[in-house]
Amino acid sequence: MQQSWEEETGTCKSTLPRSLSGQYVGSFAYLTIKDRLPVILTRVVDTVYKHRIVASEQHGQEGGNDCVDIVSRLSKLKHEMQTNKYILEIEDGNKDVSIWKQVLKEETERNEGEAPKFFKAAWLYTECYMYRKIMESIALSCHLKEFDPFGEQKRNALYDCLKPASLLIQYLHDSIEAKKNPNDMLSEFIQMSLWGNKCDLSISAGVENSQKVSPLCQLQELKSKILINKTGLVWDELKQAKSIGSVRIDFILDNAGYEFLSDLCLAECLTRLNLVDDIHFHCKAMPWFVSDVTPVDFAWTLDVLGGNENQGLSNLSKSIRQKLEDKSWSMESHKFWTTPHSFASMETVSPELYRDLTKSNLLIFKGDLNYRKLVLDRDWEHTVPFKEALHGFHPTALCALRTSKADLIVGLSEGLAQKLEAQHPGWMVSGEYAVIEFCEKMS
Ligand code: F6P
Ligand code: MG
Repeated sequence: MQQSWEEETGTCKSTLPRSLSGQYVGSFAYLTIKDRLPVILTRVVDTVYKHRIVASEQHGQEGGNDCVDIVSRLSKLKHEMQTNKYILEIEDGNKDVSIWKQVLKEETERNEGEAPKFFKAAWLYTECYMYRKIMESIALSCHLKEFDPFGEQKRNALYDCLKPASLLIQYLHDSIEAKKNPNDMLSEFIQMSLWGNKCDLSISAGVENSQKVSPLCQLQELKSKILINKTGLVWDELKQAKSIGSVRIDFILDNAGYEFLSDLCLAECLTRLNLVDDIHFHCKAMPWFVSDVTPVDFAWTLDVLGGNENQGLSNLSKSIRQKLEDKSWSMESHKFWTTPHSFASMETVSPELYRDLTKSNLLIFKGDLNYRKLVLDRDWEHTVPFKEALHGFHPTALCALRTSKADLIVGLSEGLAQKLEAQHPGWMVSGEYAVIEFCEKMS
């Protein structure tokens, strides 16, 4: 039986801290639902409204009408969110609809028969629901079902970061040529991929936010901002796995643009150091949290790199295509990643995905949202061990590379959170601090 979304794995409900939620006035969740999400929705409305000219050219009057209808559905959604209305069912016939239906049913039951509301529900649910509703408004159109309302922003973010990305790939080549210490190389490329996570378009409410300066120059000065750094354990895990046989790792990707390129460089680094044999990349099945990578973004990123005059970039594209062709690298997009579920629920909600991940030697979870889902998006004491906050989610060894953009964090040493709070108020949500977390495989 599928467990309650709130109960997660159910067994120790009473010991779990409360979910972050918009009902706590002044909290980051509250401010996000009140201020940031409406701005994101307004941007989508503008984008769709502007698109009506192109849609009319492509599909005639019906294309233009589609845009007007989407705008009207989105405006309704914005109004419902701002006036704290009930969360409704998703009704576009997509294959994930039953999951959303079940979550709504359980939340309603838990709430003594009353459906959840935008500010009252768990923040993770409300926020995921908003993005899913945006996609429902598009899926219900006649001709624009494939339209990505964040597509243009993501493409611009990619064009804006090609220069720093080319420096990264050049640095990889130089380091390999110079036979640099592999352990040091891994550490550097993990950090590069970590800081790539600063560049998401949802924390900036869609405002351009790409990497422009050389990422290499920043590494040293950013080191002190990494509050937990378990890179050594990642290295040990990979070396140990390699000593036994072929190594598979999985990237649970986050944002398109610079972050994705920094992930590809880390993947390339791992391959060239002969630490891994197979890499599975997991994308979002639909446009999500503004800038998350979809399969379409994955493909056009390779196209853009492939057509670039910089040889490092075009060779990177060629080398990736080769690996995709020989199947040592693969790209997947399971519907679970765009549900409101934390990962502790995966084994129950999507057992086939969970089973597949158990075949991997290491899962690399990128970004803030994945981190929130790893630790159930709850108000943990900051000193609670990461392993405990995973609440039973451990298909295999896993690592989280996350810049902190929401007010939850675990695994800190005693007193550190208080010190940071006193010195840098807002430290948890600013994206300036980061963690490289790790949890070993458990038997
Ligand atoms: O809006 C909630 C949030 O999790 C923020 O904390 C963060 O800015 C954004 O969504 C997504 O961040 P990321 O792209 O790193 O998952
Ligand atoms: Mg994201």
